[in-house]
Amino acid sequence: SVGMSQEVKEIEALAIRLAKQAGAIIREKSGRATEVDRKSSRTDLVTEVDKACENLIFSEVQAVFPHHRWLGEETFTVDQLEHLRNSSDSDWTWLVDPIDGTLNFVGGLPFASVSIAVARGHDVQVGVVYNPFVDELFHAQQGQGAYLNGRAISALPHETELEDAIVTLGFSTNPETRKLMLEAISKVGPHCRTVRALGSAALHISYVAAGRIGVFFEHGLKPWDIAAARLILEEAGGSVTQINGEPLPVTGGSILATNGGIVHNRMVELLS
Ligand code: IPD
Ligand code: CA
Ligand code: CA
Ligand code: CA
Repeated sequence: SVGMSQEVKEIEALAIRLAKQAGAIIREKSGRATEVDRKSSRTDLVTEVDKACENLIFSEVQAVFPHHRWLGEETFTVDQLEHLRNSSDSDWTWLVDPIDGTLNFVGGLPFASVSIAVARGHDVQVGVVYNPFVDELFHAQQGQGAYLNGRAISALPHETELEDAIVTLGFSTNPETRKLMLEAISKVGPHCRTVRALGSAALHISYVAAGRIGVFFEHGLKPWDIAAARLILEEAGGSVTQINGEPLPVTGGSILATNGGIVHNRMVELLS
């Protein structure tokens, strides 16, 4: 309906504005966080900037859309995830990763993003991923295509073979999950153009959408890592499933994100 599409437009405009605002802070503070704290382990870190960016986005969303629900990495509660799982069709939920790439950010490696998705029920309607270091904003609205800084983007042609595709992957904070990834990449690495691991799941998936790379995969991702970039990639003609090829729920898990062509099943086969 007209009312609904107007509402989605307003949500998207707000998500874009907030991603850029948080992004400016991330660019400014990269490599200069003063409070670097451990979360679950020595490899799982959070800084005052992660928290400040999430808080900035949260308070602005609250002010404009007080009834919308929230699922953000640094304020996460099990109840919120439970609510998303049981969410009815009419509930709006913001899924926000204030800094995707915290370990890069802590080290001052200029590669990280802000990821903001807004879902109605389980259906992501708006996705925004912003890389403040190169001022690249990826965004999509369901059914409206995918864009990079306002220009339409599309994933690589479906007939692209793995041998001609760059494969990317992510290394979780969990050492056991890293071992799984190392085993997995040893099966795929010999068959693709090359392998990269840059440290922001949201940017990797957005790069598949822009046709810069062919594949991203990782075990153990959270809803806020994936939700925004997944919509961007699907709107750009790509595919997102679990690594075994089964559908990936909005609550996250293992992800295989590709251009949607023959590479997708090839990856599933190599990794099974
Ligand atoms: C991490 C990044 C990283 C991926 C990890 C994520 P964070 O998110 O996306 O690339 O490999 O699994 O946890 O903690 O920097 O927001
Ligand atoms: Ca993340
Ligand atoms: Ca994060
Ligand atoms: Ca984190």
